[in-house]
Amino acid sequence: MRVTLADSPFLRACRREPVPHTPVWFMRQAGRSLPEYRKAREGVAMLDSCMRPDLVTEITLQPVRRHDVDAAVYFSDIVVPLKAIGIDLDIRPGVGPVVAEPIRSRADLDRLRPLEPDDVPYITEAVGMVTAALGDTPLVGFAGAPFTLASYLVEGGPSRNHEHTKALMYGDPGLWAELLDRLADITAAFLTVQIEAGASAVQLFDSWVGALAPADYRASVMPASRKVFDAVAHHGVPRIHFGVGTGELLGLLGEAGADVVGVDWRVPLDEAARRVGPGKALQGNLDPAVLFAPRQAVEAQARRVLDAAAGLPGHIFNLGHGVLPATDPDALTRLVSYVHEQTAR
Ligand code: CP3
Repeated sequence: MRVTLADSPFLRACRREPVPHTPVWFMRQAGRSLPEYRKAREGVAMLDSCMRPDLVTEITLQPVRRHDVDAAVYFSDIVVPLKAIGIDLDIRPGVGPVVAEPIRSRADLDRLRPLEPDDVPYITEAVGMVTAALGDTPLVGFAGAPFTLASYLVEGGPSRNHEHTKALMYGDPGLWAELLDRLADITAAFLTVQIEAGASAVQLFDSWVGALAPADYRASVMPASRKVFDAVAHHGVPRIHFGVGTGELLGLLGEAGADVVGVDWRVPLDEAARRVGPGKALQGNLDPAVLFAPRQAVEAQARRVLDAAAGLPGHIFNLGHGVLPATDPDALTRLVSYVHEQTAR
């Protein structure tokens, strides 16, 4: 039987339907672990590359060609929509996003205007090119969640403790809520552009939300993330919600409106399923550092992930966070084939 896009193992697993094998993709699969990526990016700044549909298409397809993964992830970055509305920011190699003037006051909020599709014509064009080239392989679109975007904007760059962000959240709840609400609208608009151009699923990256206690997440962050999920619900594409260090937040990540909850490596998937509750698929959760171990050890750890997921109706195999830049790409290719073989039904 010919597999169609809607019938692909990845989309079936997102809907918790039976699959011919457990689907696999990797967060950050399109990027620095691949020599062909480094070559394609030579002399082109990260944010400039995100605005060039030819490069975005090539880089998005590279890991699909190489690893036989079950989904592609659109090559971009979570700060692209902020750049597109005129925020002065850059992505510094080895550092991450750096914002020239952090957002910390009510007056600063004016710089966060709504995102219009016309602000990101290159996304519409590139998603169209990518999906045409992918055929029956699904494309995962993505955006940064309001909290994680707020952290970059308020801190001015990457942060270990998120101190300015939390100072604003606790110190001026009204301003904080307005900031997150604006970011929710920008994020929803950014995801909508990707869905309307052909993305088959979307992932909301709330990478740094594990820094919060559950009560604070529920009161101060969940309303904005829920607004994003609600805004795209009518498109009917699976919505994935991912964060790091979210063991105590897994139930709330599902409650915010996700169809699939991404789990890092700290919580086994059977336990994660209990915390998330029924009705959601799970994605994860091999420790990305495991890929630096010998093949047998990688397979043993991948087997542990599969065993923990064995009774679950929907499992998408992934890492517990993104591919580390120094990962041997061949280890990723072998891992995909191992998971496919072990789960073939
Ligand atoms: O997953 C993919 O393969 C698609 C591409 C993708 C990138 N960034 C490309 C990128 C995705 C999904 C992201 C999301 C992203 N960006 C997140 C959420 C995911 C996560 O890892 O938690 C975050 C927090 C960012 C912010 C950001 N951008 C960071 C922390 C960095 C790395 C800084 C560094 O150099 O160590 C970036 C830059 C970035 N985004 C690179 C890539 C391929 C590296 C740029 C380069 O090649 O120099």
